[in-house]
Amino acid sequence: MPEPIGPRGFTRRRLLGGGAAAAGAVGLGAGAIALTGHDTHRAAPATEPFYGPHQAGIATAPPTHVAFVGFDLRPGLDRDDIAGVLKIWTGDAARLTQGTPALADTEPELAARPSRLTVTVGLGPAVFTAAGLEQRRPAWLRPLPPFTIDRLEPGWSDGDLLLQICAEEATAVAHAVRVLCRSVTSLITVRWVQRGFRDAAPGQTPRNLMGQVDGTVNIAAPDLDRLVWDDGAAQPWLAGGTSLVLRRIAMALDTWDEIDAEGRELTVGRKLGNGAPLTGSREFDEPDFAAVDAHGIPVIPPSSHIARARHTHDGERFLRRGYNYDDAPAPGQTSNSGLLFAAYQRDVDAQYLPVQQRLADFDALNVWTTPIGSSVFVIPPGVPEPGGYLGQTLFES
Ligand code: HEM
Repeated sequence: MPEPIGPRGFTRRRLLGGGAAAAGAVGLGAGAIALTGHDTHRAAPATEPFYGPHQAGIATAPPTHVAFVGFDLRPGLDRDDIAGVLKIWTGDAARLTQGTPALADTEPELAARPSRLTVTVGLGPAVFTAAGLEQRRPAWLRPLPPFTIDRLEPGWSDGDLLLQICAEEATAVAHAVRVLCRSVTSLITVRWVQRGFRDAAPGQTPRNLMGQVDGTVNIAAPDLDRLVWDDGAAQPWLAGGTSLVLRRIAMALDTWDEIDAEGRELTVGRKLGNGAPLTGSREFDEPDFAAVDAHGIPVIPPSSHIARARHTHDGERFLRRGYNYDDAPAPGQTSNSGLLFAAYQRDVDAQYLPVQQRLADFDALNVWTTPIGSSVFVIPPGVPEPGGYLGQTLFES
């Protein structure tokens, strides 16, 4: 095994050498699932598979913690540099997710509890320009058009590369972020880090910080192939991949607190107690958007969030995998909370945009929610087996 790369003597040459070695060493880490005594009592499996046709972290049941990390490419990078970053990340992710320290791990002790760690890699538009591969860029890979509701901050938006790191334990996430950022610092720089959390009793849908049951209507496993995983028809290299739209949406909790329970339920179209639609009694009851009360008034207001967000045809559906954020408020403020809204779909333009446009045009929830960050990434397919690397089909096919 190569010697660990130290923080000093950290040249680009050694970095890329480490990357190739890391990619080659993937097979060593793959079978080495390290279940510690502490892990064995956990109900959830301690490791998620790394290899497969799709990257982990999308169809995977969402763990409690996430860090989305957006990066900028340093000026002057070429195709080999970017492939080098992806090789390093592949090698490190294959090891860390299975409970094995990364090759240059400075805190190898922290790798012992992966706690369902997943590492998902995304590429922004600039990768295709820098790599001279514009003809392979999916047509939808560009920033979303501006919406009137947006108050986007550059510090929370865009990005050339993405790491989405999830685990049941915050320490596993922090360690993976540290290792994966540190190993590529000569080539790319961190643009933003967005940390979030979601938790619920086993089998239950989590709540967002407005108190609502959030995540009820979603895509089930049989529909993933049709709606989430790309079939390679437009871009053969992308077969098995997908896209991510990440929106950072701030919640005005101080004014939301002034609304009574009935007002809150009419805003979303669902009950606070169990998330049932206003026309039903159980969470997964089908909403009846045509139902009216004794006065002829719709029971689920047409302006409510679920009425506006509901797909008008099957091709407008996508996988939602949101996380709450709760950061330190600015001086004088009382909260800095919201949603890291993450949507995965084959085609951003066809599936996501019409829904987002409807919500931007009108959604009762908009009074209390403001998009402050926005990014779009292509998520390459997974690495089928040891020896390959993330993005290989883009660079080599
Ligand atoms: C802070 C912002 C947001 C909050 C608090 C929020 C909250 C909710 C809640 C409570 C539900 C009902 C339960 C469920 O089915 O999960 C819901 C449903 C939904 N939301 Fe959002 N949401 C937000 C932003 C968005 C955005 C930006 C989009 C897409 C552009 C979106 C799309 C949807 C969709 C498609 C549904 C399911 C609608 C249905 O068919 O019943 N949401 N959301």
